[in-house]
Formats: sequence, structure tokens, C-alpha cells
Amino acid sequence: MKIPPFWQHGIGDTQMMPVSRHRSSSRRPLWIIVLVSLVCVSLVGVYIYPQRHHPSCYFFATSFCTSFKDWLPPLPSRQITDEEIASHVVFRDILSLPSIHYTNPKIAFLFLTPGTLPFERLWEKFFLGHEDRFSIYVHASREKPVHVSPLFMNKDIHSEKVVWGKISMVDAEKRLLANALQDTNNQHFVLLSDSCVPLHSFDFVYSYLMETNNSFIDCFEDPGPHGTGRYSEHMSPEVDKGDWRKGAQWFSMKRQHALIVLADSLYYTKFKLYCKPGMEGRNCYSDEHYLPTLFHMIDPLGIANWSVTHVDWSEGKWHPKAYRAQDVTYELLKNITSIDESMHVTSDAKKTVIKRPCLWNGMKRPCYLFARKFYPEALDNLVHLFSNYSTV
Ligand SMILES: *[C@@H]1O[C@H](CO)[C@@H](O)[C@H](O)[C@H]1NC(C)=O
Ligand SMILES: *[C@@H]1O[C@H](CO)[C@@H](O)[C@H](O)[C@H]1NC(C)=O
Ligand SMILES: *[C@@H]1O[C@H](CO)[C@@H](O)[C@H](O)[C@H]1NC(C)=O
Ligand SMILES: *[C@@H]1O[C@H](CO)[C@@H](O)[C@H](O)[C@H]1NC(C)=O
Repeated sequence: MKIPPFWQHGIGDTQMMPVSRHRSSSRRPLWIIVLVSLVCVSLVGVYIYPQRHHPSCYFFATSFCTSFKDWLPPLPSRQITDEEIASHVVFRDILSLPSIHYTNPKIAFLFLTPGTLPFERLWEKFFLGHEDRFSIYVHASREKPVHVSPLFMNKDIHSEKVVWGKISMVDAEKRLLANALQDTNNQHFVLLSDSCVPLHSFDFVYSYLMETNNSFIDCFEDPGPHGTGRYSEHMSPEVDKGDWRKGAQWFSMKRQHALIVLADSLYYTKFKLYCKPGMEGRNCYSDEHYLPTLFHMIDPLGIANWSVTHVDWSEGKWHPKAYRAQDVTYELLKNITSIDESMHVTSDAKKTVIKRPCLWNGMKRPCYLFARKFYPEALDNLVHLFSNYSTV
């Protein structure tokens, strides 16, 4: 994978490299270069990262400081616009907001659906007994859902039509986030579709999402026609071609990242105008590129680069594999829950397969908490199997 190593975004190296390269052409002794470099790193560190709890981090930058997280990559050296400066400071301050531990931290489950949710009975099984630790929001873009579970009653938010691949999809995601952010107890936000099902017990999911500082936003670099090929030069200079990323829309994100999605208008507007179906003779889908590109640019270390919702693209068709009732077996669910490497395939002729271990707080763990796509007919099998497979 051609994702640049993290130090390219780091405070130290981007600023420091040209300095040391320049100096080394002169005859000055090595220690001067080292000293100058160290001073540069520390000055840049103090400037970008003023209120640290760990003063030693100023000197030793990312590799030495595990808590050195909530910085932003430095602004590019080209002429930057007023809007870029404004976005930069707003994002920086949001990212450095402390994670307040509310007495009652909850996960917000955001359902993005055309209408009725076929798996409410299964979700009810998942949620029961944990009433004070979750909230539910339903965005139904086509018709008013009929709810069978009391947990889902009165959870519909004001919704608008969603056209597949258009910015209205991103707008619906933002609408769900805005509604859920109103409750300050909501600390993590999971986007799910009507065809999604849970793979683990509620306790497992809760600690997986809450006991890490990462958001799970799918993000990889695809040099092919369905990746960088969708980039429009109209997006530059604010969105550089080299920062263009792709990923499935099914995110889970922490509160600070959700705030950033609502605070951003600069990059959102770029995507709205220049990433849409039929743009310059190509199809660009904002829901596959906006969030991966945004977070790759502003907080690359704050996101795990995979989605916690599993989907099977291995058949190589336009749509992922969808499971029928007879496909839903204990073995299938065991297979999915045991995956501990994320996989991406590029869309160029090489079809490069990129596999990466799913590292949760640095530990290799199962990647997936949810899975799609299941046909409604799979409900009974899933309900029957749930207590068995979800105990892992
Ligand atoms: C998350 O960030 C907070 C505040 O910076 C820190 O205290 C905590 O240890 C971090 N948690 C993990 C799992 O890294
Ligand atoms: C996600 O990818 C970026 C590179 O784009 C990398 O810097 C970062 O460490 C990755 N995140 C995790 C949690 O591995
Ligand atoms: C489960 O995984 C094994 C090993 O990869 C494979 O042979 C088997 O077909 C899978 N079963 C299902 C139901 O997906
Ligand atoms: C439940 O799990 C056990 C293994 O732990 C398995 O042997 C059994 O067949 C499963 N039950 C069902 C209904 O699949």
C-alpha cells in the first residue's frame, strides 16, 4: 500500500527534513545539524502543541510519546486561504478537547434505512438489559418505518430523501450525527444500515468502541479508476490528489470526530461540488471518499483504517455478497468474527490486495462488530443463533 509513512505527516519530519538536507551540504560538524534539528522540532512542537500534559513530548515527537495524538498535520507551505486557517484552528481545538467521562456514557446507534428495519427483533436481543448505555436514531429516507420493537418506537428523526451516491447520503449521515450529538452522553456514534446485524454481545461492542480513542473509519489509497481516478482537479489545492482516500461509509466515530464532521464546511463543499455521479464524465461518490479523505488529512493517527462492519466483496461483483437464510450458519458467523486482518483491493489492473492486522490499542483483535448484507429472510436464523455466536 502506498500510504505515506506516518512521519510524513508528523510535526518533526516535514518541517525538519529540508533544513537538515540543506545544512548537510555545508562542512559544519554533525552535532550542529543535530542540535539545530532538535531545536526546530521542539519549537514546532511548542507552537503546534501548546498545552501538553507531557512537556518531554516537545522534544521527542510522535515516536516517543504515546499520548502525542491530538495534533494536526501542519498546514501546507503554499498560500493558504482564510477558510483553511479557520478550519485548521477549529479542528485542532476540537481534537484537543478532553474526552469528558460522563456519568453515563452511551453509544449512539444511527440507522440509515429506506424504511422498515427488518432486524429489529435481533437488535432487541442485542440491546436488552443495557438500556442506559445506548441510544437509537433512525433516518428513514423513503417511507415511515413500522417498528416491532418498543426500543425503536419514537426514534425516527426528521429525514430527507437519499439518492445513492449523491451528497444527500452524506447529508443524511450528518443529520443523524447532529441529532445524536444533542445528547451529551453519546460518546461514540455507529452508522448502520437496514441490512446490518450485530456479531457480538452488547458488552463486547461497548468496550471495543469505548475503550479506545480511535474512530473506525475505513480508509485506504486506491490508485485505480475507482479511487484516485475519481479525483477532480477542481478540489485542489485544499484537497491534494495525494491525500485522496477511499473507504466504505459505515463508520463508527468518537464524539470529537463527529463534531468535526458537523464543523467542516470547507471540505464538505468541495465534495458536494466536485465529487458526484457524472462529474467530468466519471462517477464520484462522496459517501465513499469524503470522510476517509477528510480524516486522513486532519487526524490520520486518530482513525483505525477499517470499518467495524464486515462486508464480503470477494465475489468481485458490483454489489457485495448478500446472505440468504440458508447461508446463515454458525460456521459463517464464526468465520466472520474470527477475521483479524482488514483487506482492501485496489481497482487498477494490478488489483493489489492490501492486508493489515486489525490493531486495537496496539493489539491484534477481531476486526468486526457488525456485518452486512443480510436478506430479511435471514432473521429467524440469526435470532436463533445469536446467543450462541455472540458470546465470543
Ligand atoms: C485516551 O486518551 C485519554 C486522554 O488523552 C488517555 O487518558 C487514555 O489513556 C487514552 N486511552 C487509550 C486506550 O489510549
Ligand atoms: C491509519 O493509516 C494512517 C496512514 O494513512 C496511519 O498513519 C495510521 O497509523 C493508521 N491508523 C492505525 C490505527 O494504524
Ligand atoms: C469458513 O472458512 C473456511 C476457511 O476459510 C472455509 O473453508 C469455509 O467455506 C467457510 N465457511 C463459510 C460458511 O463461509
Ligand atoms: C453453539 O455453539 C456450539 C459450540 O460452542 C456448537 O457446538 C453448537 O452447535 C452451537 N449451536 C447451534 C444452535 O448452532
